[in-house]
Amino acid sequence: MKYTHNLYLYLLVILLVAPHLTTVFSWKKDEFRNCNQTPFCKRARSRKPMSCNLIATHVEVSDGDLKAFLVPKNQENQEEDQENQEKGEIHSKALILSLSVYSDGILRLKIDEDPSLDPPKKRFEVPDVIESGFLEKKLWLESVENKGGLNVVYLNGEYEAVLRSDPFEVLVRGKDGKSVMSLNSHGLFDFEQLRVKKEGEDWEERWKGHTDRRPYGPQSISFDVSFYDVSFVYGIPEHATSLALKPTRGPGVDDSEPYRLFNLDVFEYLHESPFGLYGSIPFMLGHGKSRGTSGFFWLNAAEMQIDVLKDGWDAESSITLPSGQSRIDTFWMSEAGVVDAFFFVGPGPKDVIRQYTSVTGTSALPQLFATAYHQCRWNYRDEEDVQNVDSKFDEHDIPYDVLWLDIEHTDGKKYFTWDRALFPNPEDMQKKLAAKGRKMVTIVDPHIKRDNSYHIHKEATEKGYYVKDANGNDYDGWCWPGSSSYIDMVNPEIRSWWGEKFSYQEYVGSTPSLYIWNDMNEPSVFNGPEISMPRDALHYGNVEHRELHNAYGYYFHMATAGGLVKRESGNDRPFVLSRAFFPGTQKYGAVWTGDNTAEWEQLRVSVPMVLTLGLTGLAFSGADVGGFFGNPEPELLLRWYQVGAYYPFFRGHAHHDTKRREPWLFGERKTELIREAIHIRYMLLPYFYTLFREANVSGTPVVRPLWMEFPSDEGTFGTDEAFMVGNSILVQGIYTEGAKQVSVYLPGEQSWYDMRTGTAYTGGVTHKLDVSEEAIPAFQRAGTIIPRKDRFRRSSKQMENDPYTLVIALNSSREAEGELYVDDGKSFAFQQGSYIHRRFVFSNGKLTSINLAPAATGKSQFVTDCTVERIILLGHSPAHKGALVEPSNQKADVEDGPLMLRPGRTPAVPTIRKPGVRITDDWTIRIL
Ligand code: NOJ
Repeated sequence: MKYTHNLYLYLLVILLVAPHLTTVFSWKKDEFRNCNQTPFCKRARSRKPMSCNLIATHVEVSDGDLKAFLVPKNQENQEEDQENQEKGEIHSKALILSLSVYSDGILRLKIDEDPSLDPPKKRFEVPDVIESGFLEKKLWLESVENKGGLNVVYLNGEYEAVLRSDPFEVLVRGKDGKSVMSLNSHGLFDFEQLRVKKEGEDWEERWKGHTDRRPYGPQSISFDVSFYDVSFVYGIPEHATSLALKPTRGPGVDDSEPYRLFNLDVFEYLHESPFGLYGSIPFMLGHGKSRGTSGFFWLNAAEMQIDVLKDGWDAESSITLPSGQSRIDTFWMSEAGVVDAFFFVGPGPKDVIRQYTSVTGTSALPQLFATAYHQCRWNYRDEEDVQNVDSKFDEHDIPYDVLWLDIEHTDGKKYFTWDRALFPNPEDMQKKLAAKGRKMVTIVDPHIKRDNSYHIHKEATEKGYYVKDANGNDYDGWCWPGSSSYIDMVNPEIRSWWGEKFSYQEYVGSTPSLYIWNDMNEPSVFNGPEISMPRDALHYGNVEHRELHNAYGYYFHMATAGGLVKRESGNDRPFVLSRAFFPGTQKYGAVWTGDNTAEWEQLRVSVPMVLTLGLTGLAFSGADVGGFFGNPEPELLLRWYQVGAYYPFFRGHAHHDTKRREPWLFGERKTELIREAIHIRYMLLPYFYTLFREANVSGTPVVRPLWMEFPSDEGTFGTDEAFMVGNSILVQGIYTEGAKQVSVYLPGEQSWYDMRTGTAYTGGVTHKLDVSEEAIPAFQRAGTIIPRKDRFRRSSKQMENDPYTLVIALNSSREAEGELYVDDGKSFAFQQGSYIHRRFVFSNGKLTSINLAPAATGKSQFVTDCTVERIILLGHSPAHKGALVEPSNQKADVEDGPLMLRPGRTPAVPTIRKPGVRITDDWTIRIL
């Protein structure tokens, strides 16, 4: 009997886990629901324009907000309303609307049920996402102006917000009268209010043998949002698709599926699909040449589906919206929650991201090591394997900073434990890496093995810290360890308890150089509906899982990052990589694009995916270099390293069924070229780190679509094969096998310098370039200065005291400028002003280093003796032979030197050698 039971269990494990172990299966479309199989989506999509009959009444200013009721037209009368209620009619109670204005041109719209009308339940509003500092930026409205039936409030100098009463519409427009964004202009707004179940009504939903009880019935919300004077819309990750979002509905759109936002563990995802992946950010940007950029964000954690509507989609309706302005209409649908939406007026792309990140937070500044190269594999088998891989990197002169351990390092997938047969001395192992300045990352997932001898499980059970099923029992689902329960991270008390688990006492075998990887936090449940948690599972505060599904991984990530901060008493910046994400994730760490495949098309789509994450606030992201599933041909692997070296998060990773693929396994030539790709990243670390700081301060992403730097160049709007790293470097990936040539559009009026050859190319032109396997094209924009560290070391730590190289690329006025940000790369002291921030300006033949940091004194001062050892002058006449350094009055030589310190041929370019200046100081260098 016992044997049969075990056999049954064994077969079940194989069945559930098999898709995750092998690569013979492809994307399981049938596991997941499409819009037609998702009742709220199907209902919403079948609605016709102008079917909303709500009007705004009782408009007034109260508590600094504009408030109104939304009631059905012709039902303003309370008695009628009452009658309808009794007849069981729905949608007839008044909704409460409020509009609030915040500084920097931000409008917030909230719509919810009226609590005084006793709804069956308070609808869920997502906590812990909005920055407290943002709430302080509220501008108190004092009055509302009534202009011909429109209620108008001031937004900022240039813009105003309008609430139209009949029919109800919210509009943001310029003082010139031109619309920027609007909501419900097509009358698609619908809000299914919670109500008592009618007799005989069936609220349950069934999917593949799972029943969702839906005890509160239909509660979805949908509405249309229009963006004016835009050519494209962008954002709403995570989808493996183009940067500029393709229409999903309208004339000529076949196979019409909306963009889905529902965090899912999708096995072998397709490279071109609106299907929802591991994370969700309901934030969309519109961009056009004439007006610029605008943004719309809906803070809601339930399943969402978004249509981008193609021109003519509403041809059959009689709507005429303002002519003379182009427009993209979109349609937003969510299963539950409230309307809590934000409009951002821009007008530039960086303005919109600043506005959005003022609401949800900017990216945390990572430790320097985290911005370098990471080596991962499922799995590095044991301590010997770890040691071998580590020493091979040194043997092959390839730098790396972090070695990762996947799930197999644990004792039976019990996180915070070690398989002591394979890893008998984890502390020693970490210390050996740390001696070379290297770190280790281990995986900690949210599913907890239901094993009574496992201390985490015991405690979580005793304390009642697990998510509950619809019957109120600890939810039991299947994941890597087998039967598992899931910590309820929505509760702050539980997050704090979880955080304690990372202390050195509790996480036995961990050391200060160990950091964390949070995976499977969508959450992934192998035997759950759509491989996730049932929507009727219950969280703290009686919140249904459906209401917060997309934020579950966010809370888990937050709790883990909090734990790492706590273990070093707030003196060490955490590093936590997460697969699932939500708005605000950027405050807690990095994300990656999950289980991609070793195919050229997947390399190509990784670029728009990473760019989209950056546009929506997540500056620190990357894709598995080489592709997680499958075995990349050496050429693909090399091309992936060449692109990956520019991802903000740069990590090689592979599934355990794949062949080993460490950089030295593909012959000498490939090793040399992969080494060079990784060296380029190390060389550019000072530049990357400066960009990470920029993201931390202003939200501006590290890698950017070309249109972010060239917002009025229409030629860039649809580009997603080339991208900018900061404002100075343009990179063009190679995404096809055996490529001999590639076309690259170099925007703007200034030239671009090939970063390897120093050759100048004219801007504003598409160049057809020859390519070899040696590198992918990368250009420095004329008019910029890039800080580098050129000496080759084993890890970023070992480069700490190395001197800098400044690469000055002169523009047509023989000018250039750039920045350098430096701090201790590790602690939070930078928040007290302990950093160096310089602006370098080259003009009139003179380079000046200007301080941008506030004056810091005593303890808060960051000190380094690092100097500048070379200053490369691209576009400078070779005739000059000397330079004068001031205030030291020293002379320095100007002579031809190598553009890069790399073996083999490298062109000679005018270089100021050993100017002897420190990066901490003010100085000038005049070319004589
Ligand atoms: C799924 C993750 O996406 C992948 O990167 C990882 O290797 C496996 N889980 C095993 O932990």
